[in-house]
Amino acid sequence: MSSISNLGYVVIGSRKIAEWRDFAVDILGLQVGRHDPGKLLALRMDDMQQRIVIEDGDEEDLRAAGWMFKTEHGLQAYVQRLREGGIEVQECSLEEAANRRVEKLYRCQDPNGYALEFYCGGYVAPSNQPFKSALLRGPGFRTGDLGIGHVLVRANDYAQSIDFYQNHLGLRLSDIIRGEVRPGYVAEAAFFHTAGGRHHSLATAAVNIPKVLGHLMVELYSLDDVGMAYDRCRVAGLHFARELGHHPNDQMTSFYVETPSGFSMEYGWGGLVVEDDNWTVKTYSQFSDWGHARPGQAAR
Ligand SMILES: [Fe+2]
Repeated sequence: MSSISNLGYVVIGSRKIAEWRDFAVDILGLQVGRHDPGKLLALRMDDMQQRIVIEDGDEEDLRAAGWMFKTEHGLQAYVQRLREGGIEVQECSLEEAANRRVEKLYRCQDPNGYALEFYCGGYVAPSNQPFKSALLRGPGFRTGDLGIGHVLVRANDYAQSIDFYQNHLGLRLSDIIRGEVRPGYVAEAAFFHTAGGRHHSLATAAVNIPKVLGHLMVELYSLDDVGMAYDRCRVAGLHFARELGHHPNDQMTSFYVETPSGFSMEYGWGGLVVEDDNWTVKTYSQFSDWGHARPGQAAR
């Protein structure tokens, strides 16, 4: 059965493209691939031409998640299965695919209010234009088969979302966390992985947050790069949604900083890779085993 390889890109709709450029380049250490001021900012994390795309729009939120397939055959078999399952999937034009810097592109609507895009044949940057960041000291962002990171999306209907992600998209449940996120407030999130093996490429929770996208996570090869980015955020006076901490399920050491669009960026190191043949689904009772305090609150 063909399945998604990894989360290959995300598209954000925002009116704050100039702010995003400063944040992405000067704080996160991403590289500008393309910049059409006021219209589009395509950011690089590795040798691909684009990984995080900011498009002009008033959402200040997730517009699309791009799911990568290794082959066109796999992509088409997957799309056929989605359609057989009653999902309306549209084939995008060559122009739309080229704008996403991919060879072949399909799109459908996610029940939580953003687009799911399925693609193969992502464009690689010319070899004389390797990924370069003036800020990162280690080997850069951990991508490759693991994809760009993960998204946590707000579920309109938690049970229905879990059903959709597992039984239609074919994402595989990694684990569940049911724990107190604020005194007296217990939240539950479900974490899903793809064939690429990153502990989760998508998580969903029935949380009361103003946006579909709770956070986008990118991972670094070097813990020092996470620490140095933390310092850059502090010096710039940015708002931390959560201080440094460690998650018990994906083992990520990370902090969360507010992006120009208002959702959070999780910047992390040390994430777990799932091997399906040797994996046990568990339920955790806490979101963090140390740290991840909200500003002004004790860690929990
Ligand atoms: Fe996360």
